[in-house]
Amino acid sequence: VQLHVNASTGRLIPETLFGIFFEEINHAGAGGLWAELVSNRGFEAGGPNTPSNIDPWSIIGEESSLVVSTDRSSCFERNKIALKMDVLCDSQGDNICPAGGVGVYNPGFWGMNIEEGKTYKVVLYVRSSGSLNVSVSLTGSSGTPTLAAANIIASASEASNWTKKEILLQAKESNTNSRLQLTTTNKGVIWFDQVSAMPNDTYKGHGFRTELFEMLEAIKPQFLRFPGGCFVEGEWLRNAFRWKETVGPWEERPGHFGDVWMYWTDDGMGHLEFLQLAEDLKTRPIWVFNNGISHNDQVDSSVVSPFIQEALDGIEFARGDPNSTWGSLRAKMGHPEPFDLRYVAIGNEDCGKKNYLGNYLKFHEAIRSAYPDIKMISNCDGSSKPLDHPADFYDFHVYTSANNLFSMAHKFDKTSRTGPKAFVSEYAVTGDDAGKGSLLAGLAEAGFLIGLEKNSDIVEMASYAPLFVNSNDRRWNPDAIVYDSSHLYGTPSYWVQQFFAESSGATLLDTTIPANYSSSLLASAITWTNSDDDKSYIKIKIVNFGSSPVNLTISISGLDQNSIQKSGSSKTVLTSANLMDENSFSEPNKVVPTQSLLENAGKEMDVVILPYSFTSFDLLK
Ligand code: AHR
Repeated sequence: VQLHVNASTGRLIPETLFGIFFEEINHAGAGGLWAELVSNRGFEAGGPNTPSNIDPWSIIGEESSLVVSTDRSSCFERNKIALKMDVLCDSQGDNICPAGGVGVYNPGFWGMNIEEGKTYKVVLYVRSSGSLNVSVSLTGSSGTPTLAAANIIASASEASNWTKKEILLQAKESNTNSRLQLTTTNKGVIWFDQVSAMPNDTYKGHGFRTELFEMLEAIKPQFLRFPGGCFVEGEWLRNAFRWKETVGPWEERPGHFGDVWMYWTDDGMGHLEFLQLAEDLKTRPIWVFNNGISHNDQVDSSVVSPFIQEALDGIEFARGDPNSTWGSLRAKMGHPEPFDLRYVAIGNEDCGKKNYLGNYLKFHEAIRSAYPDIKMISNCDGSSKPLDHPADFYDFHVYTSANNLFSMAHKFDKTSRTGPKAFVSEYAVTGDDAGKGSLLAGLAEAGFLIGLEKNSDIVEMASYAPLFVNSNDRRWNPDAIVYDSSHLYGTPSYWVQQFFAESSGATLLDTTIPANYSSSLLASAITWTNSDDDKSYIKIKIVNFGSSPVNLTISISGLDQNSIQKSGSSKTVLTSANLMDENSFSEPNKVVPTQSLLENAGKEMDVVILPYSFTSFDLLK
């Protein structure tokens, strides 16, 4: 079989083509990328009324020694709930507290990962009826061993008002299933609020769990779509993501219950942190905002203006002058420089809903007039028929079987070349073919992406979904990056992304394969230059979606004699013994790309493409 690559001409691939989509789903942020160890740090998870839900906080001590409740006495106006501990036992007298004291503990997100030698910053707000003596400790899951501990002591007069306490705890032992304890042996009433524990080694001190951040960095995302998804919509508008509730000091954020993915988030990862994440990844933020529509209720277009104002304010927060109303809040939060926000999506998957078009047009007009350069993304699919409204991009989502997705490599071949471009902001193989992240799923996605690369004259951006899952609370399967508090691995779908890390902004070359192979063999080729060392490569990617090996002769035309260098050229293959093989915590590297030298690198190469594999030939020019 002949694969011909024509290196004499090419077309530029958009610089934005391959990016990532971060949604607060599967504990992607809370219990994931956001490194906060305490879950429900403000005791607010049951909402603003008492009794609130303190889960996963639990009580240490019997009812005869301690009564724990919630009240609305917090010093924070937007989140009034505080935890109240009525300590009935004492260090002396008839009711002696048990050794170790009574109090509460928080196991974080299915156990905190505490590492020997590392420092953890605990911040909490406390008030008490008398003098205060509280032990703050990191311990194993049953309260022992103690990994680190310190005491908070305050006189009755100091502690009678809410006081902020900060302590640094250095772990003397490691434990992947730890908890934070607040205990006392002194009778009296103690209130706690906004209890946080953060490791001191987050990415640049910005609060991101470093090893998860690095997984994102490695695929060189060219944009970051955030923060959802359905998370933005909510089952009901009252539970939608509303950015103004997620900015300002973390202590003052009310947090909210994401009722689509059914968990509470303290919104430590709020509007600013998402923009910061994009900046840290050196990528373009794409903000999806609520357009007055949730899954079950919607605001009529005649009264949608508060939502429009909220979107305009959110843009001003991101990129306004530090002296502007919302830009000044950003500056106060430590980021005076505007963020480079140039794309917004008006809602998510709302096309066809009663008020979508009416609302959309109003948002579009207001944003176009205030920010003429901002590109707007419509939820309506323009791939088969032209949109009936103005937009810079249309959103396209697809979750389907492996065969379907592989054949959708040709989805955009016949799409009109005029009009708004496509943003394939969510795609994945789902269902039985996907397992919990199978090779089969990854290969079908590789085929689909090759199709997008070839159609990148009209497909401007694409991102896999969902990106993250904490294995303890899988709300959607499969996902690209799997973790718990201490382990992580990429699924084959994640590793497929790495093959496309150089594509955005590269030059696409023409490739031809005999027509009778096109149902199981897909190939594309790019040429790109590594800006670190200025070396140029031809990268040829081939998916074999069939069960037989393919003997392939690759010939490259349009190059000078001897213009491929053997040393420095390589081959990378993603495959495995079985199509449904997947990675796991015990075998994180079962299905990962393997790289080898390409001994016969040249303008003419005979190669064998393994059955069910994704191969990249990287030829140094
Ligand atoms: O990616 C998971 C969900 O799929 C997203 O929240 C939504 O946009 C889509 O339905």
